[in-house]
Amino acid sequence: MNEDIILELVNVNKMFDDSDSYAVENINLKVKKGEFVTLLGPSGCGKTTTLRMIGGFEIPTSGKILLNGKDISDLPPNKRPLNTVFQRYALFHHLDVYDNIAFGLRVKRIPYQIKDKKGNLVTKYRKYTKDEIDNKVMHALKMVDLEEFEGRSVNKLSGGQQQRVAIARAIVNEPEILLLDEPLGALDLKMRKEMQLELKEMHKKLGITFIYVTHDQEEALTMSDSIVVMNDGCIQQIGSPTDIYNEPKNAFVADFIGESNIYVGTMVNKKKVKFLGAIWDCVDDFDINEKVDIVVRPEDIVIDPKAKGEVKGILTNKIFKGIHYQYTCMIGKNEVTIQSTIDYEINKMVSISIEPDLIQIMEREYNSNTYQDGYIDRDNNVVFANACFECDITQLLKGSFINEDGYLVSKENKIYDLNDADVIVDVDFNDIEISDNLEDAIITGNIIQIIWKGDHYQVIVRTEDEEDFIVNSEYTWNENDIVSVNIKKENIKLKLKGDISKYEI
Ligand SMILES: Nc1ncnc2c1ncn2[C@@H]1O[C@H](COP(=O)(O)OP(=O)(O)O)[C@@H](O)[C@H]1O
Ligand SMILES: [Mg+2]
Repeated sequence: MNEDIILELVNVNKMFDDSDSYAVENINLKVKKGEFVTLLGPSGCGKTTTLRMIGGFEIPTSGKILLNGKDISDLPPNKRPLNTVFQRYALFHHLDVYDNIAFGLRVKRIPYQIKDKKGNLVTKYRKYTKDEIDNKVMHALKMVDLEEFEGRSVNKLSGGQQQRVAIARAIVNEPEILLLDEPLGALDLKMRKEMQLELKEMHKKLGITFIYVTHDQEEALTMSDSIVVMNDGCIQQIGSPTDIYNEPKNAFVADFIGESNIYVGTMVNKKKVKFLGAIWDCVDDFDINEKVDIVVRPEDIVIDPKAKGEVKGILTNKIFKGIHYQYTCMIGKNEVTIQSTIDYEINKMVSISIEPDLIQIMEREYNSNTYQDGYIDRDNNVVFANACFECDITQLLKGSFINEDGYLVSKENKIYDLNDADVIVDVDFNDIEISDNLEDAIITGNIIQIIWKGDHYQVIVRTEDEEDFIVNSEYTWNENDIVSVNIKKENIKLKLKGDISKYEI
Protein backbone atom coordinates (compact mmCIF):
# COMPACT_ATOMS: atom_id res chain seq x y z
CA MET A 1 0.00 0.00 0.00
CA ASN A 2 1.20 3.46 -0.84
CA GLU A 3 1.03 5.49 2.40
CA ASP A 4 0.28 8.70 0.55
CA ILE A 5 -2.94 7.34 -0.92
CA ILE A 6 -5.90 8.00 1.37
CA LEU A 7 -8.68 6.90 -0.97
CA GLU A 8 -8.78 4.52 -3.87
CA LEU A 9 -11.60 3.55 -6.20
CA VAL A 10 -11.01 0.28 -8.05
CA ASN A 11 -13.15 -0.62 -11.07
CA VAL A 12 -16.18 1.05 -9.55
CA ASN A 13 -19.44 0.73 -11.49
CA LYS A 14 -22.91 1.93 -10.64
CA MET A 15 -26.13 1.01 -12.39
CA PHE A 16 -29.33 2.22 -10.76
CA ASP A 17 -32.11 -0.33 -10.31
CA ASP A 18 -34.51 1.38 -12.69
CA SER A 19 -31.90 1.82 -15.41
CA ASP A 20 -30.17 -0.43 -17.91
CA SER A 21 -27.06 1.66 -18.42
CA TYR A 22 -24.20 2.60 -16.15
CA ALA A 23 -24.38 5.97 -14.39
CA VAL A 24 -20.74 5.45 -13.48
CA GLU A 25 -18.54 3.08 -15.45
CA ASN A 26 -15.26 1.52 -14.44
CA ILE A 27 -13.91 4.37 -12.33
CA ASN A 28 -10.31 3.97 -11.15
CA LEU A 29 -9.01 6.78 -9.01
CA LYS A 30 -6.34 7.35 -6.40
CA VAL A 31 -6.54 10.33 -4.07
CA LYS A 32 -3.48 11.47 -2.16
CA LYS A 33 -3.67 12.50 1.49
CA GLY A 34 -4.26 16.25 1.78
CA GLU A 35 -5.03 16.76 -1.91
CA PHE A 36 -7.75 18.98 -3.33
CA VAL A 37 -9.31 16.78 -5.98
CA THR A 38 -12.13 17.95 -8.23
CA LEU A 39 -14.54 15.80 -10.19
CA LEU A 40 -15.41 17.93 -13.22
CA GLY A 41 -17.82 17.28 -16.05
CA PRO A 42 -21.13 18.23 -17.62
CA SER A 43 -24.43 17.67 -15.86
CA GLY A 44 -25.39 13.99 -15.71
CA CYS A 45 -21.87 12.64 -16.19
CA GLY A 46 -21.85 10.80 -12.85
CA LYS A 47 -20.05 13.20 -10.49
CA THR A 48 -22.65 13.14 -7.71
CA THR A 49 -23.08 9.39 -7.99
CA THR A 50 -19.32 8.91 -7.61
CA LEU A 51 -19.22 11.23 -4.59
CA ARG A 52 -22.23 9.53 -3.00
CA MET A 53 -20.52 6.15 -3.37
CA ILE A 54 -17.44 7.54 -1.63
CA GLY A 55 -19.69 8.94 1.10
CA GLY A 56 -21.55 5.67 1.51
CA PHE A 57 -24.95 6.99 0.36
CA GLU A 58 -24.90 4.69 -2.66
CA ILE A 59 -23.49 1.18 -2.91
CA PRO A 60 -21.43 0.42 -6.03
CA THR A 61 -22.90 -2.24 -8.33
CA SER A 62 -19.37 -3.61 -8.52
CA GLY A 63 -15.86 -2.54 -7.62
CA LYS A 64 -14.14 -1.52 -4.42
CA ILE A 65 -13.64 1.64 -2.40
CA LEU A 66 -10.54 1.62 -0.21
CA LEU A 67 -9.83 4.09 2.57
CA ASN A 68 -6.26 3.98 3.85
CA GLY A 69 -6.02 0.62 2.12
CA LYS A 70 -9.10 -0.89 3.82
CA ASP A 71 -12.23 -1.81 1.90
CA ILE A 72 -15.05 0.43 3.15
CA SER A 73 -17.56 -0.54 0.46
CA ASP A 74 -19.94 -2.00 3.06
CA LEU A 75 -19.60 0.69 5.74
CA PRO A 76 -22.63 2.98 6.24
CA PRO A 77 -22.05 6.74 5.89
CA ASN A 78 -21.84 7.44 9.64
CA LYS A 79 -19.10 4.85 10.06
CA ARG A 80 -16.87 6.47 7.44
CA PRO A 81 -14.46 9.21 8.55
CA LEU A 82 -15.90 11.52 5.91
CA ASN A 83 -18.31 14.41 5.86
CA THR A 84 -20.33 15.81 3.01
CA VAL A 85 -21.39 19.34 2.14
CA PHE A 86 -24.22 19.36 -0.36
CA GLN A 87 -25.35 22.04 -2.76
CA ARG A 88 -28.51 22.58 -0.77
CA TYR A 89 -27.04 23.01 2.65
CA ALA A 90 -29.86 21.85 4.89
CA LEU A 91 -29.36 23.98 7.98
CA PHE A 92 -31.73 23.79 10.91
CA HIS A 93 -33.59 27.07 10.65
CA HIS A 94 -34.95 27.02 14.19
CA LEU A 95 -31.43 26.81 15.62
CA ASP A 96 -28.74 29.49 15.78
CA VAL A 97 -25.30 29.19 14.22
CA TYR A 98 -23.74 27.63 17.31
CA ASP A 99 -26.39 24.98 17.71
CA ASN A 100 -26.32 24.10 14.02
CA ILE A 101 -22.63 23.34 14.29
CA ALA A 102 -22.80 21.68 17.71
CA PHE A 103 -25.72 19.44 16.73
CA GLY A 104 -23.64 16.53 15.48
CA LEU A 105 -21.23 16.70 18.39
CA ARG A 106 -24.00 16.50 20.99
CA VAL A 107 -25.34 13.23 19.68
CA LYS A 108 -21.93 11.69 19.15
CA ARG A 109 -20.68 8.90 21.43
CA ILE A 110 -16.92 8.65 21.84
CA PRO A 111 -15.42 5.26 22.58
CA TYR A 112 -12.87 4.92 25.36
CA GLN A 113 -11.30 1.93 27.03
CA ILE A 114 -11.01 1.05 30.69
CA LYS A 115 -9.92 -2.02 32.59
CA ASP A 116 -12.64 -3.97 34.37
CA LYS A 117 -12.18 -5.67 37.76
CA LYS A 118 -10.46 -8.64 36.15
CA GLY A 119 -8.05 -6.37 34.33
CA ASN A 120 -9.57 -6.84 30.83
CA LEU A 121 -9.88 -3.88 28.52
CA VAL A 122 -13.50 -2.98 27.80
CA THR A 123 -14.84 -0.29 25.50
CA LYS A 124 -17.25 2.26 26.96
CA TYR A 125 -18.85 5.31 25.39
CA ARG A 126 -19.20 8.86 26.62
CA LYS A 127 -20.54 12.17 25.37
CA TYR A 128 -18.42 15.21 24.65
CA THR A 129 -18.32 17.63 27.58
CA LYS A 130 -19.74 21.11 27.19
CA ASP A 131 -16.21 22.54 27.14
CA GLU A 132 -15.06 20.13 24.46
CA ILE A 133 -18.04 21.04 22.30
CA ASP A 134 -17.40 24.72 22.91
CA ASN A 135 -13.77 24.44 21.82
CA LYS A 136 -14.59 22.49 18.70
CA VAL A 137 -17.41 24.80 17.60
CA MET A 138 -15.27 27.90 18.16
CA HIS A 139 -12.40 26.35 16.22
CA ALA A 140 -14.71 25.46 13.32
CA LEU A 141 -16.15 28.99 13.31
CA LYS A 142 -12.65 30.39 13.14
CA MET A 143 -11.82 28.12 10.22
CA VAL A 144 -14.75 29.44 8.19
CA ASP A 145 -14.23 33.05 9.26
CA LEU A 146 -17.46 33.35 11.23
CA GLU A 147 -16.08 34.20 14.64
CA GLU A 148 -18.66 36.04 16.75
CA PHE A 149 -21.52 34.81 14.59
CA GLU A 150 -22.38 31.96 16.96
CA GLY A 151 -25.48 33.60 18.41
CA ARG A 152 -27.02 34.59 15.07
CA SER A 153 -30.10 32.98 13.69
CA VAL A 154 -29.15 31.20 10.46
CA ASN A 155 -32.11 32.88 8.76
CA LYS A 156 -30.37 36.24 9.17
CA LEU A 157 -27.25 35.12 7.26
CA SER A 158 -26.41 35.70 3.61
CA GLY A 159 -26.14 32.74 1.23
CA GLY A 160 -22.37 32.73 1.51
CA GLN A 161 -22.50 32.81 5.31
CA GLN A 162 -25.02 29.99 5.41
CA GLN A 163 -22.73 27.96 3.22
CA ARG A 164 -19.88 28.63 5.64
CA VAL A 165 -22.04 27.35 8.50
CA ALA A 166 -22.72 24.22 6.46
CA ILE A 167 -18.97 23.76 5.98
CA ALA A 168 -18.28 24.41 9.67
CA ARG A 169 -20.86 21.78 10.54
CA ALA A 170 -18.99 19.28 8.37
CA ILE A 171 -15.46 20.07 9.54
CA VAL A 172 -16.33 20.19 13.23
CA ASN A 173 -16.39 16.38 13.11
CA GLU A 174 -12.75 16.43 12.03
CA PRO A 175 -13.24 14.20 9.00
CA GLU A 176 -10.26 12.77 7.16
CA ILE A 177 -11.93 13.69 3.89
CA LEU A 178 -14.42 16.43 3.16
CA LEU A 179 -16.76 15.76 0.25
CA LEU A 180 -18.31 18.81 -1.40
CA ASP A 181 -20.99 18.53 -4.07
CA GLU A 182 -21.31 21.82 -6.00
CA PRO A 183 -21.32 23.67 -2.65
CA LEU A 184 -21.22 27.09 -4.30
CA GLY A 185 -23.93 26.34 -6.84
CA ALA A 186 -26.59 28.43 -5.10
CA LEU A 187 -24.45 31.57 -4.78
CA ASP A 188 -24.25 34.46 -7.21
CA LEU A 189 -21.11 34.87 -9.34
CA LYS A 190 -19.27 37.39 -7.16
CA MET A 191 -19.93 35.50 -3.95
CA ARG A 192 -18.94 32.27 -5.66
CA LYS A 193 -15.55 33.68 -6.69
CA GLU A 194 -14.90 34.88 -3.14
CA MET A 195 -15.91 31.57 -1.63
CA GLN A 196 -13.67 29.68 -4.10
CA LEU A 197 -10.64 31.46 -2.70
CA GLU A 198 -11.83 31.04 0.87
CA LEU A 199 -12.43 27.33 0.40
CA LYS A 200 -8.94 26.94 -0.96
CA GLU A 201 -7.62 28.83 2.07
CA MET A 202 -9.65 26.57 4.39
CA HIS A 203 -8.24 23.53 2.65
CA LYS A 204 -4.73 24.77 3.41
CA LYS A 205 -5.51 25.54 7.05
CA LEU A 206 -7.30 22.26 7.71
CA GLY A 207 -4.75 20.11 5.91
CA ILE A 208 -7.33 17.44 5.15
CA THR A 209 -8.33 15.90 1.81
CA PHE A 210 -11.06 17.65 -0.19
CA ILE A 211 -13.03 15.91 -2.91
CA TYR A 212 -14.98 18.58 -4.73
CA VAL A 213 -17.64 18.29 -7.44
CA THR A 214 -18.38 20.97 -10.01
CA HIS A 215 -19.45 21.39 -13.62
CA ASP A 216 -17.64 24.74 -13.78
CA GLN A 217 -14.24 24.34 -15.45
CA GLU A 218 -12.97 27.69 -14.24
CA GLU A 219 -13.80 26.78 -10.66
CA ALA A 220 -11.98 23.48 -11.08
CA LEU A 221 -8.89 25.13 -12.59
CA THR A 222 -8.76 27.76 -9.81
CA MET A 223 -9.09 25.46 -6.83
CA SER A 224 -7.73 22.01 -7.53
CA ASP A 225 -4.46 20.19 -7.09
CA SER A 226 -5.82 17.49 -9.34
CA ILE A 227 -8.80 17.40 -11.71
CA VAL A 228 -10.73 14.32 -12.76
CA VAL A 229 -12.55 15.12 -16.00
CA MET A 230 -15.63 12.94 -16.44
CA ASN A 231 -18.04 12.44 -19.30
CA ASP A 232 -20.83 9.96 -19.72
CA GLY A 233 -19.99 8.00 -16.55
CA CYS A 234 -16.32 7.57 -17.44
CA ILE A 235 -13.09 9.30 -16.50
CA GLN A 236 -11.63 11.09 -19.52
CA GLN A 237 -8.45 12.42 -17.95
CA ILE A 238 -6.83 12.91 -14.55
CA GLY A 239 -4.18 15.57 -14.08
CA SER A 240 -3.14 18.89 -12.62
CA PRO A 241 -4.98 21.96 -13.93
CA THR A 242 -2.02 22.89 -16.15
CA ASP A 243 -1.69 19.35 -17.54
CA ILE A 244 -5.35 19.20 -18.39
CA TYR A 245 -5.31 22.65 -19.97
CA ASN A 246 -2.04 22.27 -21.90
CA GLU A 247 -2.25 18.62 -22.78
CA PRO A 248 -5.86 17.53 -23.10
CA LYS A 249 -6.05 13.84 -23.86
CA ASN A 250 -8.93 14.03 -26.29
CA ALA A 251 -11.24 16.43 -28.09
CA PHE A 252 -13.85 16.24 -25.33
CA VAL A 253 -11.42 17.45 -22.65
CA ALA A 254 -10.01 20.15 -24.94
CA ASP A 255 -13.49 21.40 -25.73
CA PHE A 256 -14.69 21.29 -22.14
CA ILE A 257 -11.68 23.01 -20.55
CA GLY A 258 -11.05 26.55 -21.65
CA GLU A 259 -11.43 27.93 -25.15
CA SER A 260 -9.92 25.92 -27.92
CA ASN A 261 -9.62 25.46 -31.65
CA ILE A 262 -10.08 21.81 -32.55
CA TYR A 263 -9.32 20.49 -36.03
CA VAL A 264 -9.04 17.20 -37.79
CA GLY A 265 -5.49 16.69 -39.02
CA THR A 266 -3.26 14.10 -40.66
CA MET A 267 0.34 13.22 -39.85
CA VAL A 268 2.25 13.65 -43.10
CA ASN A 269 5.77 12.99 -41.90
CA LYS A 270 7.89 12.72 -38.77
CA LYS A 271 6.77 15.63 -36.56
CA LYS A 272 4.85 17.19 -39.43
CA VAL A 273 1.10 17.53 -39.29
CA LYS A 274 -1.34 18.84 -41.85
CA PHE A 275 -4.36 20.92 -40.83
CA LEU A 276 -5.93 24.23 -41.85
CA GLY A 277 -4.67 23.41 -45.35
CA ALA A 278 -1.02 23.70 -44.34
CA ILE A 279 1.80 21.55 -43.04
CA TRP A 280 3.04 22.46 -39.56
CA ASP A 281 6.04 21.46 -37.50
CA CYS A 282 5.02 19.81 -34.27
CA VAL A 283 6.70 17.95 -31.43
CA ASP A 284 4.57 14.79 -31.29
CA ASP A 285 5.28 11.63 -33.21
CA PHE A 286 2.44 9.57 -34.65
CA ASP A 287 2.24 7.09 -37.53
CA ILE A 288 2.45 8.69 -40.95
CA ASN A 289 -1.03 9.14 -42.48
CA GLU A 290 -2.70 8.71 -39.09
CA LYS A 291 -5.71 10.94 -38.63
CA VAL A 292 -5.45 12.97 -35.45
CA ASP A 293 -7.32 15.66 -33.54
CA ILE A 294 -5.47 18.94 -33.13
CA VAL A 295 -5.97 21.48 -30.35
CA VAL A 296 -4.62 25.00 -30.46
CA ARG A 297 -5.47 27.47 -27.71
CA PRO A 298 -6.58 30.91 -28.94
CA GLU A 299 -3.81 32.67 -27.01
CA ASP A 300 -1.14 30.52 -28.70
CA ILE A 301 -1.77 31.80 -32.23
CA VAL A 302 0.28 34.74 -33.44
CA ILE A 303 -1.06 37.17 -36.03
CA ASP A 304 1.22 38.79 -38.58
CA PRO A 305 -0.64 41.78 -40.07
CA LYS A 306 1.86 42.02 -42.91
CA ALA A 307 0.72 38.58 -44.03
CA LYS A 308 4.27 37.43 -44.66
CA GLY A 309 3.77 33.90 -43.36
CA GLU A 310 2.63 30.85 -45.31
CA VAL A 311 -0.75 30.38 -43.69
CA LYS A 312 -3.00 33.24 -44.70
CA GLY A 313 -6.48 34.17 -43.70
CA ILE A 314 -8.84 37.05 -43.14
CA LEU A 315 -9.74 38.52 -39.78
CA THR A 316 -13.51 38.65 -39.95
CA ASN A 317 -14.50 39.57 -36.42
CA LYS A 318 -13.11 41.28 -33.34
CA ILE A 319 -14.50 41.45 -29.80
CA PHE A 320 -12.86 43.42 -26.99
CA LYS A 321 -12.78 41.22 -23.90
CA GLY A 322 -11.22 43.59 -21.38
CA ILE A 323 -7.73 42.12 -21.23
CA HIS A 324 -7.45 41.03 -24.84
CA TYR A 325 -9.19 41.09 -28.19
CA GLN A 326 -10.80 37.94 -29.51
CA TYR A 327 -10.54 37.58 -33.27
CA THR A 328 -12.09 35.20 -35.73
CA CYS A 329 -9.80 34.42 -38.63
CA MET A 330 -11.15 32.52 -41.64
CA ILE A 331 -8.60 30.29 -43.29
CA GLY A 332 -10.40 28.81 -46.25
CA LYS A 333 -13.56 27.31 -44.77
CA ASN A 334 -11.99 26.96 -41.33
CA GLU A 335 -12.68 29.24 -38.44
CA VAL A 336 -9.78 30.09 -36.12
CA THR A 337 -10.33 31.83 -32.79
CA ILE A 338 -7.36 33.96 -31.75
CA GLN A 339 -6.72 36.03 -28.63
CA SER A 340 -4.30 38.92 -28.73
CA THR A 341 -3.68 42.06 -26.73
CA ILE A 342 -2.86 43.92 -29.97
CA ASP A 343 -5.54 45.85 -31.81
CA TYR A 344 -5.59 44.75 -35.49
CA GLU A 345 -7.80 46.03 -38.25
CA ILE A 346 -10.35 43.53 -39.43
CA ASN A 347 -11.34 42.49 -42.96
CA LYS A 348 -7.65 42.41 -43.81
CA MET A 349 -5.46 39.57 -44.95
CA VAL A 350 -3.08 38.36 -42.21
CA SER A 351 -0.92 35.36 -41.71
CA ILE A 352 -0.80 33.25 -38.57
CA SER A 353 1.87 31.17 -36.92
CA ILE A 354 1.95 28.72 -34.05
CA GLU A 355 5.00 27.46 -32.15
CA PRO A 356 5.45 23.70 -32.72
CA ASP A 357 5.13 22.83 -29.03
CA LEU A 358 1.84 24.72 -28.77
CA ILE A 359 0.20 22.42 -31.30
CA GLN A 360 -1.35 19.71 -29.18
CA ILE A 361 -1.93 16.50 -31.11
CA MET A 362 -4.32 13.87 -29.81
CA GLU A 363 -5.05 10.37 -30.89
CA ARG A 364 -8.53 10.14 -32.35
CA GLU A 365 -10.76 7.95 -30.26
CA TYR A 366 -12.80 6.92 -33.27
CA ASN A 367 -12.35 7.28 -36.97
CA SER A 368 -15.62 5.77 -38.05
CA ASN A 369 -18.71 4.19 -36.58
CA THR A 370 -18.12 0.48 -36.18
CA TYR A 371 -20.79 -1.95 -35.05
CA GLN A 372 -19.43 -5.38 -34.21
CA ASP A 373 -22.69 -7.30 -33.97
CA GLY A 374 -24.57 -6.68 -37.17
CA TYR A 375 -26.28 -9.40 -39.18
CA ILE A 376 -27.96 -9.80 -42.56
CA ASP A 377 -31.68 -10.52 -42.48
CA ARG A 378 -33.74 -12.59 -44.92
CA ASP A 379 -34.44 -9.56 -47.13
CA ASN A 380 -30.70 -8.81 -47.51
CA ASN A 381 -30.97 -5.82 -45.21
CA VAL A 382 -28.49 -5.33 -42.42
CA VAL A 383 -29.54 -5.09 -38.79
CA PHE A 384 -27.31 -3.14 -36.40
CA ALA A 385 -27.76 -0.67 -33.58
CA ASN A 386 -31.21 -2.25 -33.11
CA ALA A 387 -32.43 -1.03 -36.49
CA CYS A 388 -32.70 -2.42 -39.99
CA PHE A 389 -31.03 -0.66 -42.93
CA GLU A 390 -30.99 -1.32 -46.63
CA CYS A 391 -27.52 -2.28 -47.75
CA ASP A 392 -25.61 -3.73 -50.68
CA ILE A 393 -24.49 -7.27 -49.85
CA THR A 394 -22.71 -7.78 -53.17
CA GLN A 395 -19.77 -5.86 -51.63
CA LEU A 396 -19.04 -9.02 -49.59
CA LEU A 397 -17.90 -10.85 -52.71
CA LYS A 398 -16.23 -9.24 -55.71
CA GLY A 399 -18.18 -9.56 -58.94
CA SER A 400 -21.23 -11.10 -57.25
CA PHE A 401 -24.90 -10.35 -57.88
CA ILE A 402 -28.21 -11.21 -56.28
CA ASN A 403 -30.41 -13.71 -58.11
CA GLU A 404 -34.18 -13.59 -58.30
CA ASP A 405 -34.53 -15.77 -55.20
CA GLY A 406 -32.50 -13.24 -53.25
CA TYR A 407 -29.36 -15.36 -52.93
CA LEU A 408 -25.87 -14.04 -53.55
CA VAL A 409 -24.25 -15.56 -56.64
CA SER A 410 -20.50 -15.46 -57.26
CA LYS A 411 -18.69 -15.10 -60.60
CA GLU A 412 -18.15 -18.84 -60.46
CA ASN A 413 -21.90 -19.37 -60.01
CA LYS A 414 -21.65 -20.51 -56.41
CA ILE A 415 -24.80 -19.61 -54.46
CA TYR A 416 -24.79 -18.24 -50.90
CA ASP A 417 -27.62 -17.82 -48.42
CA LEU A 418 -26.55 -14.96 -46.17
CA ASN A 419 -29.71 -14.90 -44.03
CA ASP A 420 -28.48 -14.48 -40.43
CA ALA A 421 -24.83 -14.04 -41.44
CA ASP A 422 -22.86 -12.06 -38.84
CA VAL A 423 -21.22 -8.90 -40.11
CA ILE A 424 -19.17 -5.98 -38.84
CA VAL A 425 -20.71 -2.72 -40.02
CA ASP A 426 -18.70 0.42 -40.65
CA VAL A 427 -20.06 3.87 -41.48
CA ASP A 428 -17.92 6.96 -41.99
CA PHE A 429 -18.70 10.08 -39.92
CA ASN A 430 -19.32 11.95 -43.17
CA ASP A 431 -21.76 9.37 -44.47
CA ILE A 432 -24.48 9.84 -41.87
CA GLU A 433 -27.07 12.52 -42.18
CA ILE A 434 -29.04 13.77 -39.25
CA SER A 435 -32.29 15.62 -39.63
CA ASP A 436 -35.04 17.07 -37.50
CA ASN A 437 -37.57 15.39 -39.75
CA LEU A 438 -38.56 12.42 -37.61
CA GLU A 439 -41.25 11.04 -39.91
CA ASP A 440 -40.41 7.72 -41.58
CA ALA A 441 -37.16 7.66 -39.58
CA ILE A 442 -35.56 4.24 -39.22
CA ILE A 443 -33.76 5.38 -36.15
CA THR A 444 -33.89 8.45 -33.92
CA GLY A 445 -31.73 9.62 -31.07
CA ASN A 446 -30.74 12.39 -28.76
CA ILE A 447 -27.76 14.65 -29.38
CA ILE A 448 -25.49 14.14 -26.39
CA GLN A 449 -22.31 15.92 -27.50
CA ILE A 450 -21.30 18.56 -30.04
CA ILE A 451 -17.72 19.63 -30.76
CA TRP A 452 -16.86 22.32 -33.32
CA LYS A 453 -13.90 21.28 -35.45
CA GLY A 454 -13.07 24.42 -37.37
CA ASP A 455 -15.38 23.85 -40.34
CA HIS A 456 -17.88 21.30 -39.07
CA TYR A 457 -19.44 19.92 -35.94
CA GLN A 458 -18.74 16.46 -34.63
CA VAL A 459 -22.03 15.35 -33.16
CA ILE A 460 -22.78 12.25 -31.11
CA VAL A 461 -26.33 10.95 -31.40
CA ARG A 462 -27.42 8.37 -28.84
CA THR A 463 -30.46 6.19 -29.57
CA GLU A 464 -32.96 4.92 -27.01
CA ASP A 465 -31.09 1.63 -27.06
CA GLU A 466 -27.90 3.43 -26.02
CA GLU A 467 -26.26 3.03 -29.41
CA ASP A 468 -24.05 5.93 -30.47
CA PHE A 469 -23.68 7.41 -33.95
CA ILE A 470 -20.87 9.88 -34.55
CA VAL A 471 -21.75 12.28 -37.32
CA ASN A 472 -19.95 15.12 -39.06
CA SER A 473 -22.41 17.89 -39.73
CA GLU A 474 -22.08 21.39 -41.07
CA TYR A 475 -25.33 22.45 -39.43
CA THR A 476 -25.74 23.84 -35.95
CA TRP A 477 -27.48 21.53 -33.50
CA ASN A 478 -28.22 21.76 -29.82
CA GLU A 479 -27.58 19.27 -27.10
CA ASN A 480 -30.71 17.20 -26.41
CA ASP A 481 -32.16 17.78 -29.90
CA ILE A 482 -34.01 14.69 -31.09
CA VAL A 483 -32.93 13.81 -34.61
CA SER A 484 -33.33 11.04 -37.15
CA VAL A 485 -30.26 9.18 -38.37
CA ASN A 486 -30.13 8.44 -42.09
CA ILE A 487 -27.54 6.37 -43.90
CA LYS A 488 -27.56 5.74 -47.64
CA LYS A 489 -27.40 2.15 -48.79
CA GLU A 490 -24.06 2.60 -50.58
CA ASN A 491 -22.43 4.08 -47.47
CA ILE A 492 -22.88 1.03 -45.29
CA LYS A 493 -19.68 -0.99 -45.38
CA LEU A 494 -19.92 -4.64 -44.42
CA LYS A 495 -17.36 -7.23 -43.44
CA LEU A 496 -18.34 -10.87 -42.93
CA LYS A 497 -17.34 -12.53 -39.69
CA GLY A 498 -15.76 -15.78 -40.77
CA ASP A 499 -15.45 -17.17 -44.28
CA ILE A 500 -18.20 -16.84 -46.83
CA SER A 501 -17.83 -20.51 -47.78
CA LYS A 502 -19.92 -21.56 -44.77
CA TYR A 503 -22.96 -19.85 -46.31
CA GLU A 504 -22.76 -21.73 -49.63
CA ILE A 505 -25.85 -23.73 -50.50
N1 LIG B 1 -31.24 7.79 -7.88
C1 LIG B 1 -31.09 7.65 -9.20
N2 LIG B 1 -31.85 6.76 -9.89
C2 LIG B 1 -31.71 6.59 -11.23
N3 LIG B 1 -30.81 7.27 -11.99
C3 LIG B 1 -30.04 8.17 -11.37
C4 LIG B 1 -30.13 8.41 -9.95
N4 LIG B 1 -29.21 9.36 -9.62
C5 LIG B 1 -28.59 9.70 -10.77
N5 LIG B 1 -29.07 9.00 -11.81
C6 LIG B 1 -28.61 9.06 -13.22
O1 LIG B 1 -27.21 8.79 -13.22
C7 LIG B 1 -26.53 9.63 -14.13
C8 LIG B 1 -25.46 10.42 -13.40
O2 LIG B 1 -26.09 11.33 -12.51
P1 LIG B 1 -25.29 12.23 -11.49
O3 LIG B 1 -24.28 11.42 -10.80
O4 LIG B 1 -26.29 12.93 -10.65
O5 LIG B 1 -24.60 13.26 -12.48
P2 LIG B 1 -23.89 14.68 -12.18
O6 LIG B 1 -23.75 14.84 -10.71
O7 LIG B 1 -22.58 14.58 -12.90
O8 LIG B 1 -24.78 15.71 -12.80
C9 LIG B 1 -27.59 10.51 -14.78
O9 LIG B 1 -27.95 9.91 -16.00
C10 LIG B 1 -28.73 10.45 -13.79
O10 LIG B 1 -29.98 10.62 -14.44
MG1 LIG C 1 -24.53 16.36 -9.49
